[in-house]
Amino acid sequence: MALKLSQWSVRMLQFNRWSTSRLMSTLPELEYIKVEKCGTDGRVGLVTLHRPKALNALCSPLMDDLMTALKLFDADQKVGAIVLTGSGKAFAAGADIKEMQPRDFPENFRENFLSQWTDMVKISKPILAAVNGFALGGGCEVAMMCDMIYASEKAKFGQPEITLGTIPGAGGTQRLPRAIGKSRAMEMNLTGDMIDAHTAEKWGLVARVFPADNFLDETIKIADKIASKSKLTVAICKQATNAAYESALSEGLATEKRLFHATFATQDRKEGMTAFVEKREPVWQDN
Ligand code: CAA
Repeated sequence: MALKLSQWSVRMLQFNRWSTSRLMSTLPELEYIKVEKCGTDGRVGLVTLHRPKALNALCSPLMDDLMTALKLFDADQKVGAIVLTGSGKAFAAGADIKEMQPRDFPENFRENFLSQWTDMVKISKPILAAVNGFALGGGCEVAMMCDMIYASEKAKFGQPEITLGTIPGAGGTQRLPRAIGKSRAMEMNLTGDMIDAHTAEKWGLVARVFPADNFLDETIKIADKIASKSKLTVAICKQATNAAYESALSEGLATEKRLFHATFATQDRKEGMTAFVEKREPVWQDN
């Protein structure tokens, strides 16, 4: 059961190599999600999907846990970036088919089924997906709701909903064409076939592919680098970059200009440029 942020005390449990040194939280204890802090001084939040018996199928309680974890890290002023990964052979094998099997249309319509998944895109800090294995259906869609996707060479991506007599319901028909183009997305959505990590990289779904034994450490390193910047400026930059997805070019450019101008109202913009002029490293206040 999720506990309040104020109860979330953090203690040091292990220090091995830099990248595997983790600050483990005593709390919150979630049923389907593991939450840890890692990176320099614990400034990276690590969220691990952990429902191994069902290949991390995204049942409703797991999605509730995931949102709890993401919101906790979003509210934690020490955390500058979040890494979301899976466990075992799956990132996530999709929405829970056994949970969906008895549902009907009126129920879906009344409850606006799966609409709460979109809350992920309201997180203001960058979320990096570190995809270890199967990212199928809702699993691929959750990865696409993250800000960037890194993959182990063992990762596989697909939208197999068509094989179940349904269609993607959490962005697969919308985010996938934007990521890889219409023909490739159409092929994936209409055949249900999987693509491997290198194809996903070639097609632009994935930023980079890493060897299976260090893909998580490599992703954490990138998250740690992002977390070393001004958290305020990073959040503004994420919002501006996302405008490229949500709007026409002229509208996106106007948003960018407005947010660019707004950075000149921040202490961190003054500090960043002053540090450059004074030939020193900036000291961010996140203000
Ligand atoms: N939902 C519920 N349970 C799932 C699941 C899912 N999406 N995917 C796997 N599981 C369960 C299996 O039922 C099995 O449980 P049991 O041992 O109790 O039978 C367990 O996880 C292990 O799975 P497999 O034995 O099938 O493992 P495998 O290695 O042989 O195959 C796989 C792996 C190819 C990923 C296969 O499990 C599979 O095809 N899974 C379904 C993938 C899928 O269709 N995803 C889309 C779901 S619909 C969706 O996501 C809609 C949306 O847009 C939001």
